Amino acid sequence: MSADLPAGVAFRLATAADAVRVAELLGAQGAQAVGVGPGISAFVIADSPAGPIATIALEILGGDALIRSVCVHPSWRAQGVGTALVEHVLTEAAMEAVDSVYVLSSAADRFFARFGFVRIAWSEIPFTITRALSQRGAAVPGATAMQLLLADP
Ligand SMILES: CC(C)(COP(=O)(O)OP(=O)(O)OC[C@H]1O[C@@H](n2cnc3c(N)ncnc32)[C@H](O)[C@@H]1OP(=O)(O)O)[C@@H](O)C(=O)NCCC(=O)NCCS
Repeated sequence: MSADLPAGVAFRLATAADAVRVAELLGAQGAQAVGVGPGISAFVIADSPAGPIATIALEILGGDALIRSVCVHPSWRAQGVGTALVEHVLTEAAMEAVDSVYVLSSAADRFFARFGFVRIAWSEIPFTITRALSQRGAAVPGATAMQLLLADP
């Protein structure tokens, strides 16, 4: 699967100056906006000529990584931006020799399944990941835990 970006859209790493806009983008879509400020360096921003339209965060913790805060502004959905963002961070994770990527999905299980993520029990999430979630205050009640193995076991 490989997604082309809409014309004029490009990805870049977030900076501290993006924290408010990212929190607004996430909050307006009902997504969790906790921990954005301290964790802003983990974010990738999709910019349109008019400004940020989508975000994703990849937190790498040793051989594991956590995808968080995937959000595309409603007026930019269904144009491949979400797919391209996920592919972007999965490439980054592979380059950093990550073995497993995790995501907690509240309403996008089938979206993540397209990349090969499979549902797992919460008890299978490594402690480093659950600790990071807890430190971010990013509890996700009712979310589905999903895992993608990047490396052969
Ligand atoms: C989920 C989300 C990031 C997808 O972004 P997007 O840019 O619209 O996705 P794409 O255009 O790359 O869509 C790729 C495909 O996934 C499908 N898809 C999109 N969102 C989906 C969802 N929530 N569940 C299942 N499939 C979904 C699309 O229908 C499309 O399928 P197609 O290629 O067969 O037409 C976006 O809908 C969003 O921001 N949702 C609100 C926040 C959210 O739920 N984030 C996930 C956090 S767990």
